[in-house]
Amino acid sequence: MLKGTHLIDPMDYSIEELDEIFQLSNQIIANPEEFSNLCHGKILATLFYEPSTRTRLSFEAAMLRLGGQVIGFSEANSSSVSKGESVADTVRTVACYADIIAMRHPKEGAPKVASIYSSIPIINAGDGGHQHPTQTLTDLLTIKRIKGRLSNLKVGFCGDLKFGRTVHSLIKALSRYEDNKFILVSPDELRVPEYTRKDLVKSNSEFMECEKLEEVIGQLDILYMTRVQRERFFNEEDYIRLKDSYILDKNKINKGTSELVILHPLPRVNEISYEIDEDPRACYFKQAKYGMYVRMALIAKLLGLR
Ligand code: CP
Repeated sequence: MLKGTHLIDPMDYSIEELDEIFQLSNQIIANPEEFSNLCHGKILATLFYEPSTRTRLSFEAAMLRLGGQVIGFSEANSSSVSKGESVADTVRTVACYADIIAMRHPKEGAPKVASIYSSIPIINAGDGGHQHPTQTLTDLLTIKRIKGRLSNLKVGFCGDLKFGRTVHSLIKALSRYEDNKFILVSPDELRVPEYTRKDLVKSNSEFMECEKLEEVIGQLDILYMTRVQRERFFNEEDYIRLKDSYILDKNKINKGTSELVILHPLPRVNEISYEIDEDPRACYFKQAKYGMYVRMALIAKLLGLR
């Protein structure tokens, strides 16, 4: 029963609870009209202290498509946060107006703090370089719908694996399923954090780290590309030096199998050439669409409406 719970970390829910969310997502995809009034009279608050296109707008579209309404802010400066209000006081106030909150914050752990003070469900919509659990739900639903399974997959992660919170969350989530293997492709300076490596060891997952995508792409079932996260770098010179470490183009993709699925949480900068978008293996815009459906299912579950 997910009613009234918070979603802060991708491990907050059991595999069975995740399955419930994916089943409901599939029902919504198959028959969206059946759900168009489910959240009538309910309000979602989107508290975004950091920029977003997909996460905020897909949450808002999700609530509107469920017949509910949306309030919130898309930058901290347009709220009383600019006057020094704490996360705790902001959520205690917003909980008086809304039924559920989606929060993105540049500080790691801020949504966790919010959940301690909130009387309504808090959904972590991305906290610093830490976790992004609803992107993980999106990624898992996409993989399940396209590949038909979440186990026995060889998954390559490529790019900024140090700061990419979607990477940390998805590795953690996929390592719970049987026989998944991970190939982590990054420059030495952008390798996964030690805590992610420890998670992999703890779950007995097979993994390897390397620098050259073209040497491993032919082995992969899934290739998860990521951008280099400019906003997390301490100096611009390092960002400029590393930003084009990987550019997925026709030459590279031709080394992948015909069954390869290419995902990217987006936004993309340079790491996937536009020429790849027409390739049937490029699934990142489909992935963005599934993000809205899985958020519809999550909202319905947390409000106890399904
Ligand atoms: N994938 C993702 O989190 O995108 P936004 O930053 O646009 O929300």
